[in-house]
Amino acid sequence: MESLLDFLDDIPWWGWILVFLLLVAIRDIFFQKAHTISHNFPIVGHLRYWLESIGPEMRQYFVANNREELPFNRIERSWIYASAKKENNYEGFGTDRDIYAHQHVFVKNAMIAYQLPEGHPNTKDPCFLPCAKVIGGYNKRKKPYRPASIINVSAMSFGSLSAAAVESLNKGVEKCGAYHNTGEGGLSPYHKKGGDVIFHFGTGYFGVRTRDGNFSMEKMKILVDENPCIKAVEIKLSQGAKPGKGGVLPGAKITHELAEIRGVEVGKDVISPPTHKAFSNIPELLELIENIAEETGLPVGIKGAVGKLEQWEELANLMKKSGKGPDFITIDGGEGGTGAAPPSFADHVSLPWTYGFTSVYKIFKDMGLTDRIVFIGSGKLGFPAKAAMAFAMGADCINVAREAMMSIGCIQAQVCHTNRCPSGVATQSKWLQKGINVPLKSDRLAQYFKTFRKEFMEITHAAGYEHPCQFKMNDIQVNVDDDYLSSGLEAVYGYQKDEVTFSSMQELYDCSYLGGKPN
Ligand SMILES: Cc1cc2nc3c(=O)[nH]c(=O)nc-3n(C[C@H](O)[C@H](O)[C@H](O)COP(=O)(O)O)c2cc1C
Repeated sequence: MESLLDFLDDIPWWGWILVFLLLVAIRDIFFQKAHTISHNFPIVGHLRYWLESIGPEMRQYFVANNREELPFNRIERSWIYASAKKENNYEGFGTDRDIYAHQHVFVKNAMIAYQLPEGHPNTKDPCFLPCAKVIGGYNKRKKPYRPASIINVSAMSFGSLSAAAVESLNKGVEKCGAYHNTGEGGLSPYHKKGGDVIFHFGTGYFGVRTRDGNFSMEKMKILVDENPCIKAVEIKLSQGAKPGKGGVLPGAKITHELAEIRGVEVGKDVISPPTHKAFSNIPELLELIENIAEETGLPVGIKGAVGKLEQWEELANLMKKSGKGPDFITIDGGEGGTGAAPPSFADHVSLPWTYGFTSVYKIFKDMGLTDRIVFIGSGKLGFPAKAAMAFAMGADCINVAREAMMSIGCIQAQVCHTNRCPSGVATQSKWLQKGINVPLKSDRLAQYFKTFRKEFMEITHAAGYEHPCQFKMNDIQVNVDDDYLSSGLEAVYGYQKDEVTFSSMQELYDCSYLGGKPN
């Protein structure tokens, strides 16, 4: 025994490495059957898998140029990080974009910019930028709501995001007067930290679910009665990243707490069905909207990604005939994000935001219905110039999901579906989310929204307007192609946006339905 120990003791450190490599080689050749490369090239085959796994990070940090990456390139991410930290978010030496490139967008500035009169609300607060329309105003809901911020947090559930992330977002929206959409996982304790909330549900009806997985109006009423932070209800028809596919929450993310909030089993994938049980056609959807609005007193809207237009036309026709309908419509672009989706869906199903939004807006415009609806856009719109384009097309508010995540620390690792999010934002791992400092991150979200609103107001003033709702299609020009050079959006998309009723920022400031105030 002693001689064996002596022998082992005499093996130098590099000898141990050789023994280890020999064992790996034996395993690769004789015992593992899953990987051909490891079998055919023992030991070195592992290098390939390892290099492949760190490839995205290597490309992100060292290889990709500033404007190359998707979904968000380095310049976009850096702008959000700097804005959220209230650091210098300017660019030196001029643009690095090819401004003659196809589809490049220009905001047309006025010869003399809009000048703020004395005592204007924006002289006191340059970040004050509420929605020009009141949600639920036209349909005379009992509790109409005017979002106090035109930029808000889009649907992302507790489950796809960590408790610390949801809490940071909620406290953040409270600090800047925005609202927080719950996403389809129900209203968690982390959504109740002071911010205005839009309660969102999908086909899983989490939080308002009967035992057999149907929608419960009784639970909806109780939820709204007990939670005055809920300012509106959103029915999810689809989202841009996976329309027609129910939500997927991987089992790895289903903790005991989450299982309790949602009424599901620990550790098992939660797959919401692709379609709703509470309605199966447009008249039934309209009836559900009216019933929820009637029972809760809240404005009710729908969220959808756009593909075929027939059912949107049917909805508009029915609204025209009945005088009823959703108080708001959120249009999500095909470029939208998700916690988890098959690439074939994320890449190909549903239209990008500009195509989808313009198609739907035109339908409601042709029917004379746009003043009845607050149009909300989502799909990489969390940048002031992009928002100007969205407003010129007819959007009244924008929702941001991934941009909000980045403001609280997301590094675009694109592993939300694995429960291994390194920034602690999209994971249920207690260890990973411990790194999130909630008071600091909530300040960051609030600061990103404030900086966004301030810059958006500055662009609006440069275009000669007091509020972005005054943007018209032809205030934005887009490079079309070599023959036609560039063109106003009216010619490109074939419509002019309806005028939004707006008298002054002061009137919005004095509005009794203005949100963002303590409940
Ligand atoms: C982690 C994550 C979770 C999401 N969860 C939902 C959801 O529960 N319901 C929904 O309608 N959309 C969901 N979305 C989509 C977003 O609400 C939003 O519509 C989309 O990401 C486009 O906005 P963005 O480009 O600003 O990210 C989710 C997106 C992300 C990134």
